[in-house]
Amino acid sequence: MACLEQIEPALERFVNGLALPIALVDAIRYAVLGRGKRLRPVLAWHACAAVHPEPARSLRAGVAVELVHAFSLVHDDLPAMDDDDLRRGMPTLHVHAGEAMAILAGDAMLALAFQHLADPTEEPRLAAALVGELAHATGGMIAGQVYDTLGGLPEGLSDLDRVRLVHRNKTGALIRAAVRMGAMAGDASAGDLAALTRFGDAAGLMFQVVDDLLDVESTVEQTGKRTRKDAPLGKLTYPGVLGIDGARREVEDLERLALQALRPLGPASHGLAALVAILARRRS
Ligand code: IPE
Ligand code: IPE
Ligand code: MG
Ligand code: MG
Ligand code: MG
Repeated sequence: MACLEQIEPALERFVNGLALPIALVDAIRYAVLGRGKRLRPVLAWHACAAVHPEPARSLRAGVAVELVHAFSLVHDDLPAMDDDDLRRGMPTLHVHAGEAMAILAGDAMLALAFQHLADPTEEPRLAAALVGELAHATGGMIAGQVYDTLGGLPEGLSDLDRVRLVHRNKTGALIRAAVRMGAMAGDASAGDLAALTRFGDAAGLMFQVVDDLLDVESTVEQTGKRTRKDAPLGKLTYPGVLGIDGARREVEDLERLALQALRPLGPASHGLAALVAILARRRS
């Protein structure tokens, strides 16, 4: 994807510019760079391209949301959470650098994401809006992780409503924010932002349904992380609630919903349409 030629160097520049203890910078580099798909900056890029001729305007937002995502993965893998030893085909950060460093590097990435958005060279109104958007989504992601890890979901929901609530929060919130932040960086109209928000909602939920399917159907070589772990950990998942075929049908429905949401945006949204088709069929 051509946009990665700008996203990857932007992430590298960010890490190389950090004025922090070397061991902390090394840990942040380990967690942020490497084999990740960079989906969230790519989504921000294409959302910006859907409303503006200069999608590079989304780069700052893309770096910030990728930092929060990378933080969420480092903490998600900790022994107190999913207790994983492999991520992106490498030992998880707490295995590589110790648990204290993994906790602290995650803390730093979260703070640095907002520092990056609040850069004094940025237009203040846009910067404030992006900070608010990312803060809101980070709260949603953490709420989802609490439901996923500790339970406490509202009473009286069906299993499907429960898993939907977990996934919309733990994964959907940051994906929706990536799309919205890219659109905001491209000065989207209220109507275009609403359409892109609908797209982000559908694509974000779809992404986690596919992640659940990959846990059941894929291999460690393909995904770079341990598979067949959700069931033994007692996780609430789409294949667990709907079965494999039901979860696949949900992916198809959500892909259709995401594509429908793009219709008012016309050909400028082709990048997002192509991306959601890839995400629905991904194997890693
Ligand atoms: C993994 O996200 C965690 C989920 C939210 C499902 P990605 O699949 O985007 O992970 P990377 O960034 O490509 O490693
Ligand atoms: C990840 O969900 C959600 C967040 C990191 C916020 P998972 O726990 O399913 O992600 P993987 O499978 O470990 O990447
Ligand atoms: Mg998890
Ligand atoms: Mg996990
Ligand atoms: Mg998973």
